[in-house]
Amino acid sequence: MKSIVVAYDKQRGIGAAGDLLWQRDLPADLAHFKQLTMGGSIVMGRKTYESIGRALPGRENIVVSHGPIDATDVIAVTSLEAAYAAAHGNIFVIGGGQIYEQAIAGVDVVYATEVQQTFPEATVFFPALDDSWQERAREPHVADDRNKYDYDFVTYARTSGTR
Ligand SMILES: NC(=O)c1ccc[n+]([C@@H]2O[C@H](COP(=O)([O-])OP(=O)(O)OC[C@H]3O[C@@H](n4cnc5c(N)ncnc54)[C@H](OP(=O)(O)O)[C@@H]3O)[C@@H](O)[C@H]2O)c1
Repeated sequence: MKSIVVAYDKQRGIGAAGDLLWQRDLPADLAHFKQLTMGGSIVMGRKTYESIGRALPGRENIVVSHGPIDATDVIAVTSLEAAYAAAHGNIFVIGGGQIYEQAIAGVDVVYATEVQQTFPEATVFFPALDDSWQERAREPHVADDRNKYDYDFVTYARTSGTR
């Protein structure tokens, strides 16, 4: 199965200046991301890989780039299709914007963290989900000592027969 894992703000912003908008202010989202993806194959664009700065442990890291990737602990591929073909486990497409745009039509589930805040500095956005998608679960959380913003963990799936 193929899914997308993403965190976006109220305007669907996901990044600015090569980094996350909330940087280290939402550790609960990082934990959620880890729980979802652990043991699977994560597919990411070259810029997201560089932003993370290393391969994430316990997962097969697959990086999409037109050029070579100088790392021995990731699988480098030159297209999204090649990324899917290289994956051995459940596939989680983890961004960023360019890769989400290309992947959205072909995935079954979107695991979204909806951050209840607007970050005007956002320059990279997640595409809007069309009518073929339906919200299946929503888990709201309020800000606390460690997490600066309210956020919801939301699962979207395609309505049957639309793809
Ligand atoms: N909030 C979130 O959930 C989340 C998740 C991930 C990332 N982000 C943010 O998103 C931003 C990065 O997104 P982005 O859109 O700038 O970059 P990106 O999607 O991470 O990577 C883009 C790069 O991927 C490669 N690529 C894309 N399509 C390709 C294709 N069809 N074939 C071969 N290579 C392809 C190219 O690499 P080459 O130039 O090397 O050819 C391209 O420059 C950062 O700010 C990051 O922090 C946010």
